[in-house]
Amino acid sequence: MTQPVTVHVPLGDRAYDVRIGAGLIARAGAEIAPLLARPRVVIVTDENVAALHLEPLKAALAAEGIAHDALILPAGEATKSWPHLTRCVEWLLERKVERRDVVLALGGGVIGDLVGFAAAILRRGVRFVQLPTSLLAQVDSSVGGKTGINSAQGKNLIGAFHQPSLVLADISVLETLTERDFRAGYGEVVKYGLLGDADFFAWLESNAPALRDDPELRQKAVAHSVAMKAGIVTRDETEQGERALLNLGHTFGHALEQATGYSDRLLHGEGVAIGCALAFDLSARMGFCSQEDPSRVLEHLRAMGMPARLSDIPGDLPDDAALIALMGQDKKVVDGQLRFVLARGIGDAFVSDAVQTGPLAQVLKEAR
Ligand code: GLY
Repeated sequence: MTQPVTVHVPLGDRAYDVRIGAGLIARAGAEIAPLLARPRVVIVTDENVAALHLEPLKAALAAEGIAHDALILPAGEATKSWPHLTRCVEWLLERKVERRDVVLALGGGVIGDLVGFAAAILRRGVRFVQLPTSLLAQVDSSVGGKTGINSAQGKNLIGAFHQPSLVLADISVLETLTERDFRAGYGEVVKYGLLGDADFFAWLESNAPALRDDPELRQKAVAHSVAMKAGIVTRDETEQGERALLNLGHTFGHALEQATGYSDRLLHGEGVAIGCALAFDLSARMGFCSQEDPSRVLEHLRAMGMPARLSDIPGDLPDDAALIALMGQDKKVVDGQLRFVLARGIGDAFVSDAVQTGPLAQVLKEAR
């Protein structure tokens, strides 16, 4: 079995480690014990994850003499909402969680974001540990301290920066994901190559088809993604500049997710994959990169069996004007001007507020 690797996120008094390896849930008690002021934790998870991973986590905690209690929330994006945040915070207060205690978030991006936000506002901030169980959460949402919930107006519009005290990314749990969930998470892995590391993208072109079955390659892909994210977050924790590059594909992706009602028609990572392809189309159309770049992106997404075009989304979509209006809710909008992450080539992304609706509508039309 491969040994865990550690990526340190050096954020001064908010610094923490991301541990990446097989079997980390089975030894979570020993990994978490050094953080504890008293041998007691609370766990928040969802029904699907609890069925697979809660008992092994409890056993690992019990083996180190750590008492625990768990709240199991419904699975799905709808849980990232005011009602479930209220329930979570009140449950933590009923359990008398104190500021020196540690809350464990066991699950994918929904649980990590919700529990991180609950930890941020509980007693003005308690510590939490992320135990991400999806590929998407391991490579992106569990690292960097973005926490929050959705509202009727859009995704992630309510939240706080609150860094975890530790992230345990157990790459064995990824074997329990459906093929579709694994591939959707891969949308966030390929994003790192596209935004800032052409060599990593080339490595993925050769190795990504084997990630699901090969633990060593999987660990390498997760660790490389996390190291890239840690670097960006360390340089720009609160997204004043460079961190916005992590939103490559997300302006398109969020609009498509909203247009499909955050439903099974389009998973977040699938929206990101289509969004990355569209961002490269737009970059080529605006003359920032060569036409070969979007072709290479499309070919790789296709080789991975991922959706890459609007026509890959089942069912009808709103017209171009309506999709562009949905993009107007994006957090990157400044003075009503849309901001996109575009690219000068593979591995060379930048933020642009010069996108006009003409080329945008043309790119959407061609992707239908
Ligand atoms: N998921 C984008 C970020 O953490 O900034």
